[in-house]
Amino acid sequence: MSTNKILIVDSDNVFCYSLAKMLSTSGDVIEIAETAAEAFLKLETFNPDLAILDANLPDIDGLQLFTQLKIIDNRLPIILMSSDFHSDLAFKAFNLGVDDYIGKPFIYELVEQSIKKIFAKKRIKSNVSNCKPRLRKKHLPDQLVGNCPSMVDLFKTMNNCAQQDCKTILLLGESGTGKELVAHGIHDISARCSAPMIEVNCASIPENLMENELFGHEKGAYTDAGSREIGVFEQAEGGTVFLDEIGDMPLNMQAKVLKVIENRKFRRLGGSKEIEANIRIIAATNQDLAKMVKDKTFRRDLLYRLNMMTIVLKPLRDRKRCIPSMVEYFIDRLNNEYGRSVDGIAKEAVSALMDYDWPGNVRELRNAVERAMMLEQGKLLSIDHFCQETRASNNNSPATVTNCTVAKKVAVDLPVNGLIIEEVEKEYIKQALARYDGNQTKAAKCLGLTLDTLRYRRKKFELENYPPPHEQRVLASITEHRRYAQF
Ligand SMILES: Nc1ncnc2c1ncn2[C@@H]1O[C@H](COP(=O)(O)OP(=O)(O)OP(=O)(O)O)[C@@H](O)[C@H]1O
Ligand SMILES: [Mg+2]
Repeated sequence: MSTNKILIVDSDNVFCYSLAKMLSTSGDVIEIAETAAEAFLKLETFNPDLAILDANLPDIDGLQLFTQLKIIDNRLPIILMSSDFHSDLAFKAFNLGVDDYIGKPFIYELVEQSIKKIFAKKRIKSNVSNCKPRLRKKHLPDQLVGNCPSMVDLFKTMNNCAQQDCKTILLLGESGTGKELVAHGIHDISARCSAPMIEVNCASIPENLMENELFGHEKGAYTDAGSREIGVFEQAEGGTVFLDEIGDMPLNMQAKVLKVIENRKFRRLGGSKEIEANIRIIAATNQDLAKMVKDKTFRRDLLYRLNMMTIVLKPLRDRKRCIPSMVEYFIDRLNNEYGRSVDGIAKEAVSALMDYDWPGNVRELRNAVERAMMLEQGKLLSIDHFCQETRASNNNSPATVTNCTVAKKVAVDLPVNGLIIEEVEKEYIKQALARYDGNQTKAAKCLGLTLDTLRYRRKKFELENYPPPHEQRVLASITEHRRYAQF
């Protein structure tokens, strides 16, 4: 029978030692941490197969520690223990994904059974992942990484916002710079982390449904309102509402959201009662809101309110020193995800990645590493796996290397034998759709087309299902890469 390593995190050392004694009789190796800080250390030095956490630690709330441990190692099974039967802690814990929840004082057989079940499940999972690595799904989003000065500043600002409980935060930055990760990160490290974080993509909800979605409604508020429904502002009580793509919020909704930010109160549709909104609102966009204010498509007063705490995420080309640590992180992460064991990346490949301008920012970098890992069957990613990026950085065409929102001029030479313009057009539409994961609004903007024109051309070029789902896309991009690699 294999030996398991179990970490017990609890400030009550009498409890820890008696549980450790019981567990060690079955041959498992046990270590104890009495604080969260010790737990982080043991995660690295002891590398446990399972952690048992007490919900009431002296230096951190147990659920918060649970979230942080999962961010560091999302495959670590965790059992939460608590003597608090009167709270809805168990419910919150299961919602966050704990593997089991056990009340204190505990019955030893229950703990033993729970551990057996978790290890049995873990074995099945690792067998499945050994046979079919590509079938495994991601459980958690990427962790925010980067060790360049601007990322270090970003972490500090995030921490301040979280600790000071800033009620309104605006995240600005180009597409793929990590706004969504930052929003989740602030929520996860704040005292609000055990309440929900609800995300609303303002670009994808039709205007006529948005008010209902955010505010909810009373029974009979409109013809189809058969029963009362609560909206996002109520669902996120105590937590965070993330208004992504706020630049796409219709003007009349902007006025209503502004009122919630100012008064911290709202009414359901058709309701007369004012409801307190104990929420943090994080808004994000890659659009130029100041320009939108000038164009009268964004309310000045809303921008003023949101601007009180603004975090601007730099494009990756302005924080290239982060690239090596990010690549390392993605290799680790993808090794875990696909059951691979790539050791690293060749030095010259890293230099080539530093020479490229990454118009799609960190998202593009991640996709490039993922594609390279699919191509590499051995241990080291080499420069040959990054042909698309090295080709682009050697190519002087501004259309390929600069951010398309600022590329005003396109210097292209007509090939001697001419070209078929529709093919060029189709290729650019494909690239824009792939860059923005199929988001038509962003792709249209990047190409200087209206949404309707993009939709029309997508149909004309039979690109309605483009880009395909993620894994097929990686495979297609490998084929594409091999085609280039032959030249
Ligand atoms: N600092 C980072 N560390 C690790 N991964 C990152 C980082 N920043 C971005 N990413 C990766 O890039 C992807 C895109 O990030 P995210 O969705 O947060 O960007 P965004 O700014 O919201 O983009 P968009 O404006 O297109 O919505 C993430 O899934 C993640 O893989
Ligand atoms: Mg986003």
